[in-house]
Order: sequence, then C-alpha cells, then structure tokens
Amino acid sequence: MCSIPFVGNPEAKFLADFCNKGTRFRLFKPSLGIFGLMVCVIFGSLLCSQHERFPGMKTDDGGGGFDSRKKIDFWSGGCDVFDGDWVWDDTYPLYQSRDCRFLDDGFRCSENGRPDIHYTKWRWQPRDCNLPRFDAKFMLDKLRNRRVVFVGDSIGRNQWESLLCMLSSAIADKDSIYEVNGNPITKHKGFLVFKFIDYNCTVEYYRVPFLVVQGRPPAGVPLKVQTTLKLDRIDWSSSQWRDADVLIFNTGHWWNYEKTIRGGCYFQEGSEVKMDMRVDTAYRKSLETVISWVHREVNTTKTQVFFRTFAPVHFSGGDWRSGGTCHSETYPEPNSSSEPSHTLTKYTIFAQVVSAHTNTSNFSALHVLNITHMSSRRKDGHSSLYYLGPKTGPAPIHRQDCSHWCLPGVPDTWNELLYALFLKNEATRTSNSSVFHEKV
Ligand SMILES: *[C@@H]1O[C@H](CO)[C@@H](O)[C@H](O)[C@H]1NC(C)=O
Ligand SMILES: *[C@@H]1O[C@H](CO)[C@@H](O)[C@H](O)[C@H]1NC(C)=O
Ligand SMILES: *[C@@H]1O[C@H](CO)[C@@H](O)[C@H](O)[C@H]1NC(C)=O
Ligand SMILES: *[C@@H]1O[C@H](CO)[C@@H](O)[C@H](O)[C@H]1NC(C)=O
Ligand SMILES: *[C@@H]1O[C@H](CO)[C@@H](O)[C@H](O)[C@H]1NC(C)=O
Ligand SMILES: *[C@@H]1O[C@H](CO)[C@@H](O)[C@H](O)[C@H]1NC(C)=O
Ligand SMILES: *[C@@H]1O[C@H](CO)[C@@H](O)[C@H](O)[C@H]1NC(C)=O
Repeated sequence: MCSIPFVGNPEAKFLADFCNKGTRFRLFKPSLGIFGLMVCVIFGSLLCSQHERFPGMKTDDGGGGFDSRKKIDFWSGGCDVFDGDWVWDDTYPLYQSRDCRFLDDGFRCSENGRPDIHYTKWRWQPRDCNLPRFDAKFMLDKLRNRRVVFVGDSIGRNQWESLLCMLSSAIADKDSIYEVNGNPITKHKGFLVFKFIDYNCTVEYYRVPFLVVQGRPPAGVPLKVQTTLKLDRIDWSSSQWRDADVLIFNTGHWWNYEKTIRGGCYFQEGSEVKMDMRVDTAYRKSLETVISWVHREVNTTKTQVFFRTFAPVHFSGGDWRSGGTCHSETYPEPNSSSEPSHTLTKYTIFAQVVSAHTNTSNFSALHVLNITHMSSRRKDGHSSLYYLGPKTGPAPIHRQDCSHWCLPGVPDTWNELLYALFLKNEATRTSNSSVFHEKV
C-alpha cells in the first residue's frame, strides 16, 4: 500500500520531508489524479517506509466522512462545531500571504523565512457534521451594505487580517478595497476600516485590548495609580461599532500583571479604585460588563454578536519574557490534550461567566466562538521566529512570538467557523434556508 502523502503541488523535497516525518497518509481524493498516483508509485517505496509517527492525525477522504459516525446536517442544528479534529487537506491554504496586501509583516511567516508549510495545510473537521466550505463571494454577497467589526487585542487583529485576506481573494481588482481614511495597515494604532467598494461592505478593526475604558484615575488616589480600567464601562469607541451588523469581540491577552498593575494601571468600579483587586477578578468583571452591555445596548435582531474565546499561547521552556520557544513545532497535537495552563486559566474564567449566563436572556443573542480547545492543539501555528518582516530575517531564538499566529493559518479556521455560524444565523433570520443549503 502506497502511503505517501499527496500534495497538490508536489515537490520532491517537500514530499521527502513529509515522508520522513513518518506521517502516513492515504490517497484521499480520486480527483487528485494520475500525477499524484505516479509520484506515489515512484517515490512511495523509496521514501515512505517509516512507521506512522503521528497517530491520531487524520486525512480528508474527500467526503469529510473519515470516521464512520453519521453526520448531522450542519443547518439543522445540534452539532458542536468546536468538537472535532484537524485533518490534512491538500486544498489548503485558502490564500497565499504574498497575494494579500492586508497583512502585517508580523504574520507573514513563510515570507519571513519560516521553512515548513505544513501548518497551512490543516482543516478543521467537526466530529458530527461538515462545515460549509468558505466561499468569499457568497459571504460578500451576504455582507452587502453591511459592517463587520472586530473589537479587541492584537490577536483579534490577527483574525481580522485573516478575514480581509480570505474575502479579498475573491476580488480581482484589489484597488477596489481600501482603508477609508487612507491609513496604512502596518503598525497603525486605533481603528482601521477597510471597504469593499463593489459590495459597499466594510471590515473593521478597533484596537481595544481590555474592552472596557482605560483612563485617568479619580482625584485623591495614591500616586502609583497612573491609569485605571473602569471595569463597569465599555470602551468609549463602542458608539462607533454598536450598530455594526457583525460584531466579534475578543480579550484576554492584556489581562495580566505586567500590562496592568506593574505599569500603574489599577482597577476601578464606580468612582472607587480597588487597590487590592486581582487581575483575574478584574478580567471576570470586564466580561460581565461586555455581556450586559450587549444585552442593554445592541439590537441583536440586526447585529450578530460573537465572542471569541481566549486564543492559546504556546511558550515552552519559559514565557514571553523569559525566552520561551515554539519554533521547533511543526505538527499539531494529535489528541485533544489539555490547554497550556495560562490559557486554561483565562479560558476557565470565560467559561464560568458564560455558564452563569447561559439561561439568562442577557446571553441569548451572544454567540461564542469557542476556539480555545481546537487551537490549543496547534502549537505549530505561531509566528515564533518569523515575525520581523522579509528583510530582517528570523528573530533571535529567545525573542519568540508564540502568541500570534502565522497567516495563512489557524485564524483562518476561526473565520471559517465565523462564516458557518454567520450563515446559519442569517438563514434563521430570513427563514429561507434553501439558498444556504447548497453551500455545504
Ligand atoms: C468549548 O468547546 C469544548 C470542546 O467541544 C467544550 O468542551 C467546551 O465545553 C466548550 N465551551 C463553551 C463555553 O462552549
Ligand atoms: C452602504 O452601507 C451602509 C452601511 O454600512 C449604509 O448605511 C449605506 O446606505 C449603504 N450605501 C448604499 C449606497 O447602499
Ligand atoms: C442582565 O442585564 C441587566 C442589565 O443589562 C443586569 O441588570 C442583570 O443583572 C443581568 N442579569 C444577570 C443574570 O446577569
Ligand atoms: C432592530 O433591528 C431591526 C432589524 O434591522 C429593526 O427592524 C428594528 O426596528 C430595530 N429595533 C430597534 C429598537 O431599533
Ligand atoms: C491519542 O489517543 C488515543 C486514544 O484516545 C491513544 O490510543 C493514543 O496513544 C494517543 N496518542 C498520543 C500521541 O498521545
Ligand atoms: C439551564 O437550563 C437547562 C435546561 O433548561 C438546565 O439543564 C441547566 O442546568 C441550566 N443551567 C444553569 C446554569 O442554570
Ligand atoms: C428563498 O430563496 C430562494 C433562492 O434565493 C428564492 O427563490 C425563494 O423565492 C425564497 N423563498 C422565500 C419564501 O423567500
């Protein structure tokens, strides 16, 4: 049995590399054609004699039916799309970073010298159903005259840029997509609004890492208090995005001691500064504030609101301050192993807030993009040494980025899930799902 992996653009080197990793793959699509078969016959016996070294990883068999369980229809509900596996998919990635103008250098890993590309080849396969395949034109059609807004920290920006690349891949004339204020994408702080002129649609990012207001402290507080986070107030910029059609929140990565108290930023409730409040408590309160703000202020008949859960970080042998690394990770974790502990803490707080609200009307219109577990298995997906731009080359070994993600890469999957849930909500809203059903 030939067990070489088939790759869409087979290069002997990549193939050999892959084989030598010992991963066993079946030829999984009849449409892959005769060339794949030839490569396989020619190189198979030479290169693929090693045993499977990544038990548990799966390949796509073309129908998504790699396990024998019966699939639920995605549209009919009842499928937990966040429970599943990463499967090798030859047709990925959905775009190439060099074809996408809307990317910070920090995410262009391949262009910045990352040697492997396997991390771009994994597709998320829910256990019990199939996701609709991402169709940029279809999504843009659904977004005509509408606004999609990401609010959060730079990992939210990571996801936003991914969506810009995914959507713009369907647009031939790239000049028909532009930042409405003429701002460049790179290093820009504040907010950025990209317009797809043919669709009168905007895809926007607001940099609000804490989601709540950060501002001057009240009078009379100790000198060491330089700013406060007003835990009971959503950020002032909310007036600009409250009426968006799709709103995607995220937070978490700034809720730590270094980015708050150590820099003189304390927590405030009402007019009172809580000198002793712990960061995790403050984080929890800010989540409560966002949920009740959505309930009070957002017309959820119009606006689909998503909250993306904490994106895992994968530093090993240290953290971001002390030389932790992830650059030698080139494969996903086959099994759903547990989250890195820092990630777990942040995720658990969110999960507790969510479960306390599950049965209250306050939460009914908030959709959770529950990506923490699935992304925890993708320690291979981070920028690691390859975030400095094509001219600079890899970073020093002890200055790695194991928080942000390479693009194309893992955030594309978050957007595929966003796409699926967005369409499903649309179908429910318009009560005409016939047009959507073809999309699976
Ligand atoms: C997120 O998904 C995981 C895996 O399916 C599940 O165990 C967890 O309960 C989910 N959490 C939330 C808040 O939905
Ligand atoms: C363009 O979209 C905005 C909402 O994003 C809407 O207010 C405006 O009316 C639309 N313009 C046209 C010409 O349809
Ligand atoms: C629901 O939201 C309202 C106001 O937005 C708030 O007063 C109330 O406490 C919330 N309910 C729960 C269970 O959190
Ligand atoms: C909420 O949005 C829906 C759909 O756009 C609209 O019909 C309705 O009037 C809005 N409700 C309020 C209170 O603005
Ligand atoms: C993955 O899990 C399966 C069963 O759950 C187990 O047999 C296998 O050894 C695990 N593989 C790894 C690499 O942990
Ligand atoms: C929410 O409601 C479901 C059934 O309606 C119940 O099984 C569950 O225990 C409730 N959860 C909470 C947190 O009250
Ligand atoms: C549902 O959508 C289809 C395809 O766009 C259209 O032909 C049909 O008339 C619509 N049905 C209703 C009830 O709006």
